Formats: sequence, C-alpha cells, structure tokens
Amino acid sequence: MNRMMIISTGSALPERVLTNFDLEKMIETSDEWITSRSGIKTRRIAGKGEETSKLATSAARKALEMAGLGPEDLDMIVVGTITSEIAMPSCACLVQKDLGAVNAFAFDINSACSGFLYGLDLAEKYIKANPDLNILVIGAENLSAHVNWQDRNTCVLFGDGAGAVIVSGATPGRGMIAGKMFSDGRLHELLWMNSAPSLNPATAIPDHDGSYIKMAGRDVFKYAVRALAEAITYVLNQEGLDIDEVDVIVPHQANIRILKSLADRLNIPLEKLYINVYKYGNTSAASIPIALDEANRAGLLQEGKIVLLCAFGGGFTWGASLLRW
Ligand code: ACO
Repeated sequence: MNRMMIISTGSALPERVLTNFDLEKMIETSDEWITSRSGIKTRRIAGKGEETSKLATSAARKALEMAGLGPEDLDMIVVGTITSEIAMPSCACLVQKDLGAVNAFAFDINSACSGFLYGLDLAEKYIKANPDLNILVIGAENLSAHVNWQDRNTCVLFGDGAGAVIVSGATPGRGMIAGKMFSDGRLHELLWMNSAPSLNPATAIPDHDGSYIKMAGRDVFKYAVRALAEAITYVLNQEGLDIDEVDVIVPHQANIRILKSLADRLNIPLEKLYINVYKYGNTSAASIPIALDEANRAGLLQEGKIVLLCAFGGGFTWGASLLRW
C-alpha cells in the first residue's frame, strides 16, 4: 500500500504583533483575564500585502525550498481556510497563480479549524492512488478580518497566519499510519460566522449584523475536549497503539486550557504537546501547520518519531491523524 509522508514544512506570519496590553486599550479586558482563560499573550494581525493568499504563498515557498522542489513540480494545491480575501476564486487558485504552479489543480476546503487536517486526509487518498504526486497542503487564515473587535468574548482569542506542507509517497517505514475525520453540523450555531448579506431580496437577512465569528465559548470548550479525546483514541485503537508510544502531539492551538484538559483526560504529559498558542492565538486552519513547521525546524520531529495531529473547530468538525515522521 502506498503511504503518504510530509516531506517539508513552511509557515508565514504577519509582522504586526497585538499584545494583551494593546487589547486592554481597545476593550474592557486584561492581560490577566486573557492569559488565565486562554494562555494567549500575543497574536499576529495581517496588514496590506499579508492577505490570506499572500501568507499562504509565502508559507508554500518555504515548504518548496525545504523540499528542493519548484512550483512546476506540484500536482495539487489544497488550502484549508474560512477567511480568504475573496469568495471566488479559491485561495488555492490565488496561491497557484502567485507560485506559478502551472501543473497543479487547486481548491479550498472549508472545515474551519480542522481544514488543514481534512486537507491532509484528502491528500493521503490521492497519494495512495499515485505516490509520485507532490501535493501542497496549506492552512491559512485572516481571522482578524472576521472578528467583532467590540466583542471581548471572541476578539482576544484569534490571530492570523499560514502554514504549509508538501506531501508525497512515503519511503518504507515512514508516513501516515491512520486518520479519522468527524463532523456534526447539528451543532453549527455554537461556533459560526454568517456570510455577507444576500443580494437576493428573497433570501436577504433583515438587520444583518455583519460577518463575524460568534461562539458559545463554554459549550465549545466542553465539546472540543471530549471530541479530541475520542478522535485520538479512535486512531490509536485502529493501530493498536498506546498514547505512550506517541512521541510528539501537534494539536490545533485554540486555548491552553483545552489542551490541558485533553492531556488530563488521556493521561498525556503536557511536555508531549507542542504548544505555541501563547504567541499566535487561535489561527484556525493555520494553527497545526504553523506549529508543525516550528517543531520541524526546531528538530523535534526526527525520522521515525510517531507524531499525532488533532483538530477541532466550527461545524463542528474534528479529527486526528497519526504519522511516522
Ligand atoms: N476580558 C474580560 N472578561 C471577559 C472577556 C475578556 N476578554 N471575555 C469574557 N469575559 C467575561 C464574560 O463576559 C463573563 O462575565 P460575566 O460573568 O459578568 O458575564 C466572564 O468573563 C466569564 O465568561 P465565561 O465565558 O464564563 O469564561 P470562561 O471561563 O468560559 O472562558 C473562553 C471563556 C476563554 C472563551 C472559554 O470558554 C473557552 O476557551 N472556550 C473555548 C473557545 C475556543 O477556544 N474557541 C475557539 C474556536 S474552537 C476551537 O478552535 C477549538
């Protein structure tokens, strides 16, 4: 059976850093509240020239460089995003254009914070069919453009950025071992972002208050911990592996308390989790590939290590993937 492996990583973050102390001047909040509730100290905010597709392209260039590939070597580009700068065409098509990846077909996945993991899962199916493909999987977001900066319940939590990986056929003994994705659309109103008002009078929403992220924080928290634990247990059971056999866990970075509760529930030492939420906040689909790139460049993902990725987000969508690096 052809397995898929991640052959390189890259990431890109906007220049501007917004600290909790900056937020104290904008809304009624405090560094103490934000840090104790979320673990977040700073986040990056995109400016001109740092639109979602630009960050995505920049992360992709770094991944291409690490892989020693040119843009023309790419066969497929998939971008997990809910915040591309335009609705059509896809962010992936803009990345294809900017890279000059003339041989690739390109499309987006809308699975909120799970978008990168869903993309990786899909790429694995293509590689299984043809291990010679080079597939670029990106998570990229500009969430700062879609938070209500008056709503302290949400605006302190999110940030912007992009991460990318290139996947191809695995060398023997390496690559993706297992993965399982989940969704439950019945719970969509616990975490959602309504679209811009319809221009069709028959479907227009009166008094539409804009395209903002809306969230029932406590419900999301409880559900996220349970769902992540179930997804992780599912993929480990699939392979008859114990959590102790996993070397590094790179989770979606939403909130340090979610990660601590998850670690408690599954008896995982917190040191096994790669955590950078304090620097970037929740960057939705971008959070796993940014963290993966940091962990990779820091030398934490040596060949043969068992790496677990897990995500949870709006939809609800969630999942876990297990790889031998
Ligand atoms: N600064 C100061 N006070 C605040 C702020 C803020 N930024 N935000 C909310 N508060 C207040 C609330 O108004 C409330 O005040 P009240 O009791 O007078 O009404 C009080 O703090 C407590 O609010 P809670 O919502 O009960 O606070 P909680 O301890 O649950 O923490 C949080 C809120 C951080 C949102 C938490 O529920 C959480 O982390 N949820 C998970 C949400 C998440 O991470 N979502 C990301 C998307 S999903 C994903 O990626 C997994």
